[in-house]
Amino acid sequence: MLIRDATPADLAAIVTVFRDIVADGETYAYPEDLTDEQIAATWMEPPPARCVVAYAADGTDGGEGTFLGTAKAGPNRPGRGDHIATASFMVSPAAQGRGVGRALAEEVLRWAIEQGYAGMQFNAVVETNMAAVALWQQLGFSIVGSVPGAFRSKHHGPVGLHVMYRQF
Ligand SMILES: CC(C)(COP(=O)(O)OP(=O)(O)OC[C@H]1O[C@@H](n2cnc3c(N)ncnc32)[C@H](O)[C@@H]1OP(=O)(O)O)[C@@H](O)C(=O)NCCC(=O)NCCS
Repeated sequence: MLIRDATPADLAAIVTVFRDIVADGETYAYPEDLTDEQIAATWMEPPPARCVVAYAADGTDGGEGTFLGTAKAGPNRPGRGDHIATASFMVSPAAQGRGVGRALAEEVLRWAIEQGYAGMQFNAVVETNMAAVALWQQLGFSIVGSVPGAFRSKHHGPVGLHVMYRQF
């Protein structure tokens, strides 16, 4: 697996996975009708944030293979909150459950620590998103609290949103 900084050439792959995951209705509260440009502005944030992509090492002639997923990270808040990082992750549905999310998270955590952030906060982890909650807990995040019913899951109805935090 190759994880590298995203470039404009990755936008088509990113919008495909972004739309699939948002349409699934279980993990993200983004609107379902964003244009490519709006998705780029939302996900491919400029520095000091960072957007990365993961590809499988199954390309022909040594080139990049299948797009596996993407992550973004940067300051959680501007100004006096910019010492705490946040991050978001989207693994292609076909590639989920094979270690891609863990690899993206480990890279994002490595980068955030290197950048000097004091910790990382996830603002809205859907409580029924078992894969995410389990993975973040394995990586040292705790559930700080939950807002009951703050997310309208397509299949479960109103469910809570966790704030999760890891101090570096
Ligand atoms: C959540 C997400 C990023 C996890 O990435 P992934 O590649 O699917 O997960 P991984 O294969 O790296 O699994 C890492 C751990 O998560 C947990 N996990 C993964 N899938 C799971 C599932 N279906 N149920 C319960 N736990 C699961 C396991 O603890 C796993 O650890 P293991 O290696 O010991 O089995 C990915 O599924 C995804 O993009 N989902 C849709 C969008 C999303 O939820 N983003 C995060 C929002 S907070």
